[in-house]
Amino acid sequence: VTETLLERPAAPLLPSDLDTPAALIDLEVVRANITAMQRLASAAGVRLRPHVKTHKSVEIGRLQLAAGASGITAGTVGEAEVFAKAGFDDIFIAYPVWAGGPRGRRVRALHEAIRLRVGLDGARAADALATAVAGTRRPLEVLIEVDCGAGRSGVRPADAGDLARYAATLGLLPIGAFTYPGHGDASRDAREPASRDEVHALEMALASLRAAGLTPTVASAGSTPTAAFSGRPPVTELRPGEYVFNDVGKLRIGACGPGDLGLFVASTVVSDAVPDQVIVDAGTKTLGREGSETLGYGLVPAVRGGFLRRLNEYHGYLSVDRAEPRPKVGDVVAIAPNHVCPVVNLFDELIVHEGRQLLDRWPVDARGHLG
Ligand SMILES: Cc1ncc(COP(=O)(O)O)c(C=O)c1O
Repeated sequence: VTETLLERPAAPLLPSDLDTPAALIDLEVVRANITAMQRLASAAGVRLRPHVKTHKSVEIGRLQLAAGASGITAGTVGEAEVFAKAGFDDIFIAYPVWAGGPRGRRVRALHEAIRLRVGLDGARAADALATAVAGTRRPLEVLIEVDCGAGRSGVRPADAGDLARYAATLGLLPIGAFTYPGHGDASRDAREPASRDEVHALEMALASLRAAGLTPTVASAGSTPTAAFSGRPPVTELRPGEYVFNDVGKLRIGACGPGDLGLFVASTVVSDAVPDQVIVDAGTKTLGREGSETLGYGLVPAVRGGFLRRLNEYHGYLSVDRAEPRPKVGDVVAIAPNHVCPVVNLFDELIVHEGRQLLDRWPVDARGHLG
């Protein structure tokens, strides 16, 4: 495994007597991450609308609102439904929502229940949204998605005005634009240029909306890797999600420090039959498969140089250098995931602790609400 970290995290303190594999969140770290991101947004004079796809947890969403978030971002209608049911009343689904069929009825119900905004990047989607909410009391607010270089979804910034005007003729209410700078995740050096791309794309999108005769009030930007740079005009809100827990991917690109990892997977050593490795009870069913043979599939701070080198469904292969002591069968080790979001979606609950003290268990409320 190639070591690409400037500084490895320390092994976290965990409560004893854990049944594994388990997802543990250190509340002190999570609270500090929430506070730090809120401060960053507030100091920049922009609103924070955290993306809840990372934690999918009503309790953590409440911590984010209590810290000053202006609302939340969801990735699916299902996530929005779960949080709306729990009392969250201002939700932006930052996704090119297709509101045909049953999903159209769900969008309509959400729109009638809370302040809902949805993403829009095409005329057919606008038709479906307009049909879904036809005859409701208020117009549905939409944000035009523009592509700032990630090449995923979103119209060209200069085309935002045309789409917004079309949406308005259908009775939708275009209030601005949003973009996601996914290319800021690529490396340490990619973050700042991706931030420039997103700010520039939003500038162009707002100009295009104005040229179409509209008065945009929202310019919504991503993301954990770019958040430190993107809180500047014309951006009005930031939508980072992963900052709440962080992960090895964020550590590699310098988007967090080694003390900012809020979630570890506790896993038990179940076999030392093969020399120079131990097997832990966390495989792809626990960690997903984000990683590679060269980057590893999760970092184990308790073992010097320790990464999971390979995963089967229920087996994780932790290589241990011959000169190092091997963890014993029955020992519990903490694994920092490469990418935390899919890991959370594999667990029913998060075990909440502060150091060795076990505090609570919180359900992953929106787990599996994928559409
Ligand atoms: C549209 C959108 N907004 C915001 C985010 C949050 O960014 P991050 O995961 O870097 O915190 C994502 C993440 O995938 C996203 O897709």
